Amino acid sequence: MTIKRVGIVGSGIMGSGIAEVAAKAGCEVVLRSRQQNSADAMVASLEKSLKKQVERGKLEEAEAEATLARVSATSNLHDLADCDLVIESVVEDLAVKKELFRELNHICKDTAILATNTSTLPVIEMAMETHNPELVCGVHFFNPAPMMTLVEVIPSLVTSDETIAAVKEFVDACGKSAVEVKDRAGFIVNALLFPYLNNAVRMLESGTASRDDIDTAMKGGCNFPMGPLALLDLVGLDTSVHILDALYLEFRDPNYAAMPLLRRMVTAGQLGRKSGEGFYDYAKK
Ligand SMILES: NC(=O)c1ccc[n+]([C@@H]2O[C@H](COP(=O)([O-])OP(=O)(O)OC[C@H]3O[C@@H](n4cnc5c(N)ncnc54)[C@H](O)[C@@H]3O)[C@@H](O)[C@H]2O)c1
Repeated sequence: MTIKRVGIVGSGIMGSGIAEVAAKAGCEVVLRSRQQNSADAMVASLEKSLKKQVERGKLEEAEAEATLARVSATSNLHDLADCDLVIESVVEDLAVKKELFRELNHICKDTAILATNTSTLPVIEMAMETHNPELVCGVHFFNPAPMMTLVEVIPSLVTSDETIAAVKEFVDACGKSAVEVKDRAGFIVNALLFPYLNNAVRMLESGTASRDDIDTAMKGGCNFPMGPLALLDLVGLDTSVHILDALYLEFRDPNYAAMPLLRRMVTAGQLGRKSGEGFYDYAKK
């Protein structure tokens, strides 16, 4: 495989998951968080997760050890200089991502592919911050990355065919299926999913049905593994509002206009699973 050393920027839900997937695929992984202790915490949680998989008989002990040995943690972006592929998975904020692409372009080797795990933001905007935009694309993993089998691969208007071929080869090595989609907000999955999630909040807010009945209905009636409100909690309500805002900005479709309740919950710090409270309560008893 062309891609042997992978940098991951951002140690949130997605950064952690992608690091595990890439390390299991045999790549060396350099995980960068702004704080060294967050990066170290992520490696510690990866170790715990691998141990659990061994205990459940899902992974050989030797494989778990080898996977962990391939992962290093840093707070220094310069440690990504030798990476063949860097996947950024920081907050869904275009200004933050553009600044990061500028920095990565200065730091990384000339042949490095720079990818974004954005759910909705224009890949071309990030590409044009670099001197070699043909090496920039979207590689959109799903949550939780170790479990979900799909990756959307997104060429911008100027991404080269070689870049897309190398990224698809990497996705394949990760044991995932790639679909290719144009650089449009929400790509395939979120463009179709978020009007549904947002309308579930509308239904809750209007008092049409209770939280539990909405989730039970979509599980039992559509055979979905999770209800929409539980899924919003899993995605993160802050990330969900960012996603809806980007979709609304691009398409001006009222179905993408984030429900007032979602925004109020984010302001209140109720972000879903990651904060311990969202539509459901996850506080450790
Ligand atoms: N949550 C999901 O279900 C999901 C699924 C697919 C893709 N994504 C995308 O992945 C990316 C990360 O989402 P997440 O769910 O992991 O979010 P998260 O909130 O769990 O993590 C965000 C990360 O960004 C870092 N960060 C915040 N502000 C920053 C800044 N100013 N500069 C640098 N780093 C900063 C945080 O420290 C954290 O490590 C987003 O682009 C999101 O759209 C999310």
